[in-house]
This record gives sequence, C-alpha cells and structure tokens, in this order.
Amino acid sequence: MSSSVVVETTLPGLDVRRGKVRDIYDLGDQLLLVSTDRLSAFDWVLPTGIPDKGRVLTQIAAFWFDLLGEPNHLVTTDVARMPLPRGADRAMLAGRTTLCRKTEVVPIECVVRGYLAGSGWKEYQKSGTVCGIKLPKGLVECDKLEEPIFTPATKAAEGHDENIPFERMVDIVGAEAAEGLRRRSLDVYNRGAEHARSKGILVADTKFEWGRIGDELILIDEVLTPDSSRFWPAEGYQPGRSQPSFDKQFVRDWLESTTWDKNSPPPALPDAIAAKTRDKYVEAYERLTGRKWGKW
Ligand SMILES: Nc1ncnc2c1ncn2[C@@H]1O[C@H](COP(=O)(O)OP(=O)(O)OP(=O)(O)O)[C@@H](O)[C@H]1O
Ligand SMILES: [Mg+2]
Repeated sequence: MSSSVVVETTLPGLDVRRGKVRDIYDLGDQLLLVSTDRLSAFDWVLPTGIPDKGRVLTQIAAFWFDLLGEPNHLVTTDVARMPLPRGADRAMLAGRTTLCRKTEVVPIECVVRGYLAGSGWKEYQKSGTVCGIKLPKGLVECDKLEEPIFTPATKAAEGHDENIPFERMVDIVGAEAAEGLRRRSLDVYNRGAEHARSKGILVADTKFEWGRIGDELILIDEVLTPDSSRFWPAEGYQPGRSQPSFDKQFVRDWLESTTWDKNSPPPALPDAIAAKTRDKYVEAYERLTGRKWGKW
C-alpha cells in the first residue's frame, strides 16, 4: 500500500481530465474519479499536496452515499472490483478512487445554505437577499438561517460560478426537474447537516451535483465533503464574525502571514502546515463516520 502524496495520476492507455482536485477517466458508461491530494485555497491549487486528503474525501463521500440512501452514481470504491487497465498502480489508486455511473450532468450547481457566509453574506449586505431570496433584516455574518435555502449557480467554464435565480434554473432544466432537485438538495442537506452537527461539525453550505441516466436524476460527484462544503467547528461557533474553516484554516492563516499577493502562483506550504491540515481532514473523517482512519 502506498502512503505518499499524490498530486497527479496517470492510467495506462486512458486520457485524463484534471479538475482542480480530481483526475477523471472515462471508461465508456462509467467514470473513474480519482481524488488526488491537491488542495486549493483562495482559488489557487497549491504546489504542496496534503497527505491522505484524496482518500479522506473519497471515503467521506462514500460514507454519505451509503448513509443518505439517495439514488446516486456510486458503483464501488474498492479497486479490486474496478475494471482498471493492465499496469494501473492499484496501490496508489486504493482508497482515493470512485467507480461511478457516467451521467449527463445537470449544468447547475445545487447549492444549499444553512448559514449566511461567503457570497451569500456579501449579497445580503448589499441587498438583503441571497440569490434573490429575501431574508429577514438584521442578520449578521455567519448567522444560522431560519430555514436552509436553495441557491443554484451555473457551472462557469472559468473562474467563479454564477449565482442564478431559481426561475433561471427552471428555464435551463425545466420546472419539474428544477423543483425536484431543489426539494432533494434541501432534503439531503438537512439530513447530512443534522448528522454532522451531532458530530460537532456545522455544514454552513454545500454544493450538490446531479446527473441524468435515462429519465432518472441521481446524485453524482462528491457529497458533503470539506471540498464541496463549508465545514465549521461547532465548538466556538459564534455569529457576527467569520468562522474558522474546519479543514483549511491552518493553510489560510499561513498564506495570509506570507507576502503572497493571491494573484500569482502560491508558495509551497511548510511541512508542519501540511501535516496539521492532514490531521484536520482525518479528524473530519473520524468525526463524521465514527470510524478510525486506517493505513492504506
Ligand atoms: N457520475 C458522473 N457522471 C458524469 N460526470 C460526473 C459524475 N460525477 C462527477 N462528474 C463530473 O466530474 C468532474 C469532477 O471533477 P472535479 O470536481 O475535480 O473538477 P471540476 O468540477 O471540473 O472543477 P472544480 O475543481 O471546480 O471542482 C466534474 O466536472 C463533475 O461534474
Ligand atoms: Mg467539482
């Protein structure tokens, strides 16, 4: 088994498509999603990988797929059961790889917000709304919303996703699909956030992706991971100020302490910062799943 940091993968005979964090291999009607140890912060992928991060993300998502029971794309995370090409580095892939059904991706980021943070907080300060949804007056930064809200965004080809009003989502995917995905996204968020809360993690907001196979819409991509969500430690939560990030705070604080301007490639992380960050990812896994993180 291999425990070294993996920031780029290759599989013999297959083309790779690289997202910020995952490497994607097309097997026809299935995909291999390989979570690397790449980390992004301030919209940059850092030159330093975080040991175990890819495996933690994959295992957290697999835990949720199982717990939530929502129809989803997962086939297996067991490399022994994957149709890998001859010569594939199974030890490297183990634990970080998801074999899933390939779907036609619904081109909407289904964002659910339970708290007022990030772009939602910015918009609220200007207009009292979040993605056009009117909220009560007098809310402060990171306040818990009375009810979680569904705030779709379009997947921008480059850079930031663009928040859109629900009506625009209806135009893009149709009323029935839009209503269905809003209801299901809110439901999955509510159930997931309640579980996380009971383990000391607040899911401030999260993004789901859905895909179509025939006339079925299923949950795809990663779910309720620190990369697709804003995780806050429940302990010490206090509205009226920004909250520390459960997973990335050491990285952010360290980057802020350097002279890096956020407009050029970021510096490499010191080993100690990478190690502390790794421990937070593992802690998120252990808290959420109640399992001990093993060796791969
Ligand atoms: N079951 C699936 N069927 C089809 N596409 C999928 C499925 N699950 C995930 N995807 C797609 O695979 C990709 C996952 O890669 P990844 O999240 O690393 O990159 P990205 O979303 O392109 O970029 P970003 O770094 O902004 O997240 C996404 O484009 C996602 O929509
Ligand atoms: Mg993505």
